[in-house]
Amino acid sequence: MFNQLEAAPPDAILGLNEAFGRDARPEKINLTTGVYKNAHGQTPVLSCVKEAERRLLESEASKGYLGIDGLPEFSGRVRELIFGADHEITVSGRATSIQAPGGTGALRVAAEFLGKAFPGVTIWCSQPTWPNHPAIFQAAGVEVAEYGYFDETTNGLNFASMLDGLAAIPAGDVVCLHACCHNPTGVDPTAQQWEQVAEIIESRDLLPLVDFAYQGFGDGLEEDATGLRTLARPGRRLLVASSFSKNFGLYRERVGALTVVTGDADTAGIVLSRLKQTIRANYSNPPAHGAGVVTTILDDDLLRKEWQTELNGMRERINDMRQRLATGLAAAAPDHDFTNVGTQRGMFSFSGLSPAQVDRLREEHAVYLVRNGRMNVAGVTEENIGRLCESIATIL
Ligand code: LMR
Repeated sequence: MFNQLEAAPPDAILGLNEAFGRDARPEKINLTTGVYKNAHGQTPVLSCVKEAERRLLESEASKGYLGIDGLPEFSGRVRELIFGADHEITVSGRATSIQAPGGTGALRVAAEFLGKAFPGVTIWCSQPTWPNHPAIFQAAGVEVAEYGYFDETTNGLNFASMLDGLAAIPAGDVVCLHACCHNPTGVDPTAQQWEQVAEIIESRDLLPLVDFAYQGFGDGLEEDATGLRTLARPGRRLLVASSFSKNFGLYRERVGALTVVTGDADTAGIVLSRLKQTIRANYSNPPAHGAGVVTTILDDDLLRKEWQTELNGMRERINDMRQRLATGLAAAAPDHDFTNVGTQRGMFSFSGLSPAQVDRLREEHAVYLVRNGRMNVAGVTEENIGRLCESIATIL
């Protein structure tokens, strides 16, 4: 019976990574998956992670199952990180968090929970968004729709279209927002624009589902939480999917969290029971290692400081390459406007290249970008930046 099946298409992002692996050209450049790379093109294990792992290996006494919702100490640490230790949501107990296998796992649990709790609910995504957003939500049986976000003529935010889009969403529906470092565009609302977004969300009674995958990669851990904390108005409900793949470099350990902010502690307890029911029928309970590493680091003042220094270093390297890329492209292709490559934030830059141009870059120059024109700025190094800018200039 399997003979009747047609092959599924390769994944829009990870599929290109596989193709890159098969490419025999030595000069190839990989700017596809959102993974940090250092100046030598490697994805290192952070020193604070190595130390936390050493301690865990020494102290680990059991491989018994974790609870369905994960390590107990982990969830409080997550709320402190995303809202701040003194925030009303952190101290009031009106939020609940579960440990999830990566940000992707958190989004999937969120969608299944929402779909069951509110049958017929639609999740509205920015146009464009991470291609896996609609895939995850639809796989959970939830309807997906779009609101305007990006302005292709300026390569910046189309804020008027975003506000109009949000204002047209039916009350009670869910809005998926990127807390910072919007994937794929690298274009975020300003603090003042977040206020306006929060205003519409409140007046339309929409439920935000905030994807927080890049905390610390935009302007800093606290700065990057501005949008989320603006949405977290007194009494407001929201969901946050956190990922620790990028900011702790724990990609393959699959560690993330889903936080649901409710109206009061009793309701938070009810929501937690529903989340656990969802998880139990999916992956039963999460893997321990990554959350153990994150908790060990956040629980220890010195390790935490070391982590922040390492995270700052990753952000600064990306921002440095971003500036050099903007300058390099402006010099190599003076007829094109690449100003926004320099002002966009986080790991990604939306180059404005068409799928056909991206295909030419890959086929003729062994330069791999996602077909929507997204490039991972962290993959740019001193060594490959010259050839990258020249290749882009050639295909323009
Ligand atoms: C990306 O967008 O490249 C990352 O979030 C990795 C992924 O899973 O797609």
